[in-house]
Amino acid sequence: MSFKVTLEPSGHSFDVEEDEIILDAAIRRGLSLQYGCRNGVCGACKGKVVEGRVRYDGGLPGAISEAEDAIGQVLLCSAKAETDLTLELHEIGGGNEVPVRKMPSRVVKMERLADDVMRIYLKLPDTERLQFLAGQYIDILLKDGRRRSFSLANAPHDDALLELHLRLIEGGEFTGHVFEGMQEKDILRIEGPYGTFNLQEESDRPMIFIAGGTGFAPIKGIIEHAIQEGVNRSIFIYWGARAKTDLYLDALPRQWAQRDNIQYVPVLSEPASQDQWQGRTGLVHEAVMQDFADLSDYEVYASGPPEMVEAARHGVILRGLPSQQFYFDSFDFANDYD
Ligand SMILES: Cc1cc2nc3c(=O)[nH]c(=O)nc-3n(C[C@H](O)[C@H](O)[C@H](O)COP(=O)(O)OP(=O)(O)OC[C@H]3O[C@@H](n4cnc5c(N)ncnc54)[C@H](O)[C@@H]3O)c2cc1C
Ligand code: FES
Repeated sequence: MSFKVTLEPSGHSFDVEEDEIILDAAIRRGLSLQYGCRNGVCGACKGKVVEGRVRYDGGLPGAISEAEDAIGQVLLCSAKAETDLTLELHEIGGGNEVPVRKMPSRVVKMERLADDVMRIYLKLPDTERLQFLAGQYIDILLKDGRRRSFSLANAPHDDALLELHLRLIEGGEFTGHVFEGMQEKDILRIEGPYGTFNLQEESDRPMIFIAGGTGFAPIKGIIEHAIQEGVNRSIFIYWGARAKTDLYLDALPRQWAQRDNIQYVPVLSEPASQDQWQGRTGLVHEAVMQDFADLSDYEVYASGPPEMVEAARHGVILRGLPSQQFYFDSFDFANDYD
């Protein structure tokens, strides 16, 4: 049996199973609610029951008092629905509103996706989850307060582990360590989430995504979030790389493209002879310019190397895209080296 939960003042609604935690159902539906520990301890997920009844299977959790419970306050990370519910609570509207936190994480899995790309999965302490919006990034904290930024490649509904795609930088201090020294079970200190490279949820414009190399990482998070939310706007994904092996997760966008509203166009700038490449060649932003004569009613999301993002911006604006409909994540490198 399931119940309907309606949120005020937004009017968003979702279904929750009778044995399901209310917050879990909201996250699964792609809603951005405030939370922290997901364990009844921090109080960040507190809301108010306007109509209906909730229950706590393990008794009242620590972050809510009997007096608060009596006046209808509720901890969404611990409560289950007993009836249809109307809840009053604050939904997070933009990246700036998501709290930034600093915490340790454990490297639980490392996977070499290409010669110079490593996927790593990070796990937070058992009682912690990182709240973030799809497309945001975190900083890895190095010694002496220096930091390195990497985009989150997973979507918020799938947050048991944080997924990063790291490109090896020649002479790079952190990525060099990842490829040569780092081991599973190592601890990394992280801070985040940061960034405003997010899906424009209120819009119904068709969207073009332009990824260069590991610029695919935040785009993966955004597309997985959009699929989870049932977004049916047209989505065009252009992924540019040198050779075929650099399209390090090529099967995934091909699988997304089986949906009616998603198209995937890989573009290689230097295909290797063994690639026997029949697809598009050249620079990725040029492929977009060839395919679209008028972008005035589109949104364009670009992420990857700064030169690619700049070239993409220039190209799509020439095709009539209003600059406020261009969203980007430029992978600038840290400038703390001497
Ligand atoms: C918001 C944001 C998100 C990012 N997300 C990702 C991501 O998801 N995946 C990813 O692989 N990278 C990402 N980056 C880029 C990454 O943070 C940098 O490449 C980082 O500096 C690498 O750290 P490092 O210690 O290995 O190299 P560093 O020690 O910082 O650099 C060593 C030398 O290499 C050069 N260098 C560093 N990075 C680059 C680069 N990207 N291109 C060309 N030359 C460089 C510098 O000149 C420097 O002298 C992101 C950057 C930003 C700002
Ligand atoms: S998220 Fe911490 S109490 Fe609910």
